[in-house]
Amino acid sequence: MLPANIDYWSRGMSGALDLSTRTLEGLVTLSQASGRSSRPKHFSVEAPFSRRRFLKGMGAIGGASMLASSPLQAVMESKPGPLILPPNHVIRANFNENPYGVSRVALRAIQNTFDQAGHYSSGPRQRVMEVMTNLHDLPPENVILGSGSGELLKAAGLMVAMTKGSVVCADPTYHDLVRFAESNGAEIIKVPVADNLGIDLEAMKKAMRKDTKIVYIVNPNNPIPSILAKKELEDFVKEVSKKCMVFVDEAYYEYVEDPSYGSMIDLVRAGQKNLIVTRTASKIHGMAGLRVGFGFGHVDLLKKLSQIQTGQMNVLGLAGAAASYKDTEFQNFTRRKTRESKLIMEEMIKDLGLRTTKSHANFVFFETGRAVEEINGKLKEKGIISGRPFPPYLKWSRVSLQKPEEMRYFAQTYKQLFG
Ligand SMILES: Cc1ncc(COP(=O)(O)O)c(C=O)c1O
Repeated sequence: MLPANIDYWSRGMSGALDLSTRTLEGLVTLSQASGRSSRPKHFSVEAPFSRRRFLKGMGAIGGASMLASSPLQAVMESKPGPLILPPNHVIRANFNENPYGVSRVALRAIQNTFDQAGHYSSGPRQRVMEVMTNLHDLPPENVILGSGSGELLKAAGLMVAMTKGSVVCADPTYHDLVRFAESNGAEIIKVPVADNLGIDLEAMKKAMRKDTKIVYIVNPNNPIPSILAKKELEDFVKEVSKKCMVFVDEAYYEYVEDPSYGSMIDLVRAGQKNLIVTRTASKIHGMAGLRVGFGFGHVDLLKKLSQIQTGQMNVLGLAGAAASYKDTEFQNFTRRKTRESKLIMEEMIKDLGLRTTKSHANFVFFETGRAVEEINGKLKEKGIISGRPFPPYLKWSRVSLQKPEEMRYFAQTYKQLFG
């Protein structure tokens, strides 16, 4: 049985199995899927699924797969005309996950750690700490681990609530810290994004109150994939951290290619107080289900945060993360594919004349002019799950960039339904 990311596995990357074997195996798996007794759910833009048509298509794949960059693409492009989705294939364009999943190198490290599953996590924990401290040139006291970065976000939210303080954040922005703080009694001061949909730092400064304990900045932001320039944010952090903690969430850091952008971890290294920066293994590393996140900050702050952490790390996730952060080949591969997918979506948005903002992450956000529920309902019928509503942008869609072949199907479907 092949992993779901067979096209990544079949790319003939160093150490991966031979392309033709993998491709062949993938086709067998797919054709077996088409022959299951319960009828496969199949999505196509134009015509409903016919098993004959699919199997006929499979015949063409022998040749097509030699040209296509992946078995999935070969299946989808096996007939002239509109793209078809293989049976039971669903496009998960809703959670900003890496469509290629865990890297081959990380998966091997995880497999080699199965026999340690009966132990608590100190060994793999130490290894991942070594990787992160080396990567960022920081001593261990400036690094904290979390069960996903979400655990660290929630712990910070709880810190504010415990002191009956307030949080200042952009609107819209990512929810973990904000919602957890609010549901535990903190007050949330939401600052609308600027007209260009970027985070408005000046307005955030003005919105701060005496009881503000955290200013939360997501860079790139989510659901709007905008960025703040490094210099601008550095100046902001230096000024605001005199009054309260600044929490910079860099979950999508690895996707940014704009030269004006930069990490706030540099400030942590320079000894900046009242600053926490988070990263996650859930996005470019494709490990969302394994729950590994990282915080970087001043030792005093990290001590406080660790006192209210409740999660425990798992050995498999830690082993995978230690390997994945060193696997630059996979990160480059994902970045390249994301770029390709982004171009497809940018073209679709341009063709349809829809309002959007440049994406610096692995998702796009654009104004559909229709209720999100309507858009999502119709896309779901075609095998696509798209992002949830993000108030107050209820006529906008957030679409996670999946494989280029999937985004081609998305663009074709979207145009046909709403163009
Ligand atoms: C901006 C941002 N921060 C943090 C997270 C949480 O990620 P995790 O808890 O998986 O590390 C997400 C998840 O989508 C996110 O979009």
